[in-house]
Amino acid sequence: MIKVENVTKQFPDKLALDDVSLEFPKNQTTAIVGPSGSGKSTLLRSLNLLERPTSGKMSIDDLNVDFQKEISNSQVLKIRKRFGMVFQEKALFTHLNVLHNLMEGPVKVKGVSKEAASKQANDLLAQFNMTELADRYPYQLSGGQQQRVAILRALAMEPEYLLLDEPTSALDPELEAQVLRVLRDLAEQNTSMIVVTHNMDFARKVASRVAFIDNGKVAYQGDTNGFFESKEDRIQKFLGAMTF
Ligand SMILES: Nc1ncnc2c1ncn2[C@@H]1O[C@H](COP(=O)(O)OP(=O)(O)OP(=O)(O)O)[C@@H](O)[C@H]1O
Ligand SMILES: [Mg+2]
Repeated sequence: MIKVENVTKQFPDKLALDDVSLEFPKNQTTAIVGPSGSGKSTLLRSLNLLERPTSGKMSIDDLNVDFQKEISNSQVLKIRKRFGMVFQEKALFTHLNVLHNLMEGPVKVKGVSKEAASKQANDLLAQFNMTELADRYPYQLSGGQQQRVAILRALAMEPEYLLLDEPTSALDPELEAQVLRVLRDLAEQNTSMIVVTHNMDFARKVASRVAFIDNGKVAYQGDTNGFFESKEDRIQKFLGAMTF
């Protein structure tokens, strides 16, 4: 379980996170939703310390961080190891084929043998019906395929938590559906996932919890049905603005 307590992030001219307290349980999928500029990416990036909050505390299972104190490099590494991250823009290694993209992290960072990494990569590809892509290079893949490989590459590191920041926003609807199906399968396997998404249909169907961030504040956190059935003005307004 990840616990965020009273976290604040002050950029020079913008309070991006304003006293945010949130919990992300293990083995569940939490959707982070909210208007553009509300602080969703800042929050997600704070979890793996790509962003340093100004104040507040965080615990990731047994690891504790106080943002007002110095965080040692070894602590940063320990925390980063718990997370896999998938960004909006696909970012595969262009000079490596799909199989080697999946092997790179385990071999170079974790010291897994090439044999074991190759077996694991092939297993992952088989599990998601992507075996035929193994020998292709990123430029030979569609956007949706690239993004699915990016998700498998994060999974190959066997992270405790998978962070995804609008993983489908650069994709056409059809390609988006391919990627969302992979995430749905992962959710069904009880993967611990935190997904920033503007796709309310996906949030409703796949996430078990929703965190609604509005202007740097937590405006809702709790189960998914409670969010979509909420009569609260701010939530209704947001959901209304997301449909036409
Ligand atoms: N590095 C930065 N320096 C200054 N301001 C920043 C920085 N990063 C983000 N901000 C500001 O902090 C606020 C929150 O940004 P953030 O990217 O977290 O929003 P978001 O909810 O992810 O938005 P979107 O849905 O458009 O991706 C915005 O007002 C943004 O302009
Ligand atoms: Mg964002």
